[in-house]
Amino acid sequence: MAHSNNPIPADPSHPRHIAVVMDGNGRWASKRMLPRAAGHKAGVNATRALVESCARRSIAALTIFAFSSENWKRPSTEVNHLMTLFVKTLATEIDKLHAQQVRVVFIGDRNRFDEKLRQGISAAEQLTKNNTGLALNIAANYGGRWDIVNACKILANQVSAGSITAGAIDETTFSEQLCLAGLPAPDLFIRTGGERRISNFLVWQCAYSELYFCDTLWPDFNDAELARALDWYATRQRRFGKIAEQVGGESSESQQGAG
Ligand code: FPP
Repeated sequence: MAHSNNPIPADPSHPRHIAVVMDGNGRWASKRMLPRAAGHKAGVNATRALVESCARRSIAALTIFAFSSENWKRPSTEVNHLMTLFVKTLATEIDKLHAQQVRVVFIGDRNRFDEKLRQGISAAEQLTKNNTGLALNIAANYGGRWDIVNACKILANQVSAGSITAGAIDETTFSEQLCLAGLPAPDLFIRTGGERRISNFLVWQCAYSELYFCDTLWPDFNDAELARALDWYATRQRRFGKIAEQVGGESSESQQGAG
């Protein structure tokens, strides 16, 4: 779970960690009169390109939303297709990811996945666990609220076992029990596909992320689109509650607010 062996670049204009909601596969397919499955297949190609772009651009961590806790509500044919696609993609991509020094971790409740997918997940994590390049977190059957409730359960058990006191729980000890413990919070949150919402992704971890929304459908998201998001990020002044003068910037109109 922890990724702390990754060197994190300190340049404030360059995100260390990017979180992505890859939305728009279905609409991409519909626009071409193709089945939704073709959109997900094209989505895998865009995901592969994103991983390569992030690695090349020295992004330390990338967290992608592959399947939410709520996606089980989709028609069973689509859910089954996605599960098969995940198993197949893992099998075909993992050696290349390993060669690129990518460290793969799955976040989310994997108990609901079938044995084949659980095995693929464990094998991918095991193979890449000592890699020192991009930390790739794949959120699968993940929900931000599930993550928070899970952390509460772990801490509640520790309190009842007497290993910690309730008073010792603070934001630091709490976040140590979340899925992305050991990684800096996402600096940049990207959502493609035109919707402007977080959809129960990393709700705790994105409290101070810069939120970038674009209309591009996920299969069309490429390195040029990533460059646009990174250029926008570089214009942001991150204040974390302080005022502009305290963080060494100008207080332009776009930089007003709660920080
Ligand atoms: C959202 O588009 C996309 C998904 C629910 C699936 C995301 C999965 C991939 C891109 C494949 C990644 C693969 C791996 C192995 C990580 P949507 O179907 O909600 O699109 P719509 O809003 O246009 O219907």
